[in-house]
Amino acid sequence: MRKPIIVGNWKMNKTMKETKEFIEAVDPAAASENATFGIGAPFTALSTAVAAANNLIIAAENCHFEDSGAFTGEVSVPMLQEVAVTHCIIGHSERRTMFGDTDETVNKKAKRLIEAGITPILCIGETEAQYDAGESEKVIRDQLTGSLADMCAKCVADIVIAYEPIWAIGTGKSASVEIAENCCRIVRDQVKVMYGEEAAEKVRVQYGGSVKPNNIAEYMAQPDIDGALIGGASLKADSFIEIIEKTK
Ligand code: PGA
Repeated sequence: MRKPIIVGNWKMNKTMKETKEFIEAVDPAAASENATFGIGAPFTALSTAVAAANNLIIAAENCHFEDSGAFTGEVSVPMLQEVAVTHCIIGHSERRTMFGDTDETVNKKAKRLIEAGITPILCIGETEAQYDAGESEKVIRDQLTGSLADMCAKCVADIVIAYEPIWAIGTGKSASVEIAENCCRIVRDQVKVMYGEEAAEKVRVQYGGSVKPNNIAEYMAQPDIDGALIGGASLKADSFIEIIEKTK
């Protein structure tokens, strides 16, 4: 049985003060044996979030694959280890489109995180033009081929993959349950092609893109959707608590 994992992705939102208030309000609701709940926070808020959380897992939203060096503005995996985050989002579409992340750099980041014992939440997903052209499956398989290259099957089994169609992110235009399930099933199948049945059965696949309190339950009812990566609806304590309660 795969344990569901719901993670909020705050993006460039929340100061340390706001982070403390949010975590204190939400953390008690996140106590659960049956599912994992967490928050992806900006670098500056990570220490505050880790200190305030007892039940929520805390994720960084990016990392660099080198440990140190002349990379102005970047944060390395050893730095994240020191802050004691357990998870790190990598390859989010906003990072791929605005900050130059590629399958190759995402692959390097994933490997470095695994080496450090931090679980990558690896994001993939097609653009609206690719969706309209019927290329979703090809894009998903190609992105995974690059992002998951040369890893061990056991490592891949332990990561989280977030399927996020770009046309559904922040648009309110969530993918239908059928599309989300079908694409998450393709993700799992591609893991099977690359790393075998056992890794495919164990890897957790999230859907992301305009997930809200009113649609979380139908996504979670799908056999290949093991969780969600949630942007907008994770910013308000009330709505994130509602999502948690509907998942428990
Ligand atoms: P959204 O964002 O829930 O606001 O659509 C999802 C994401 O970017 O991870």
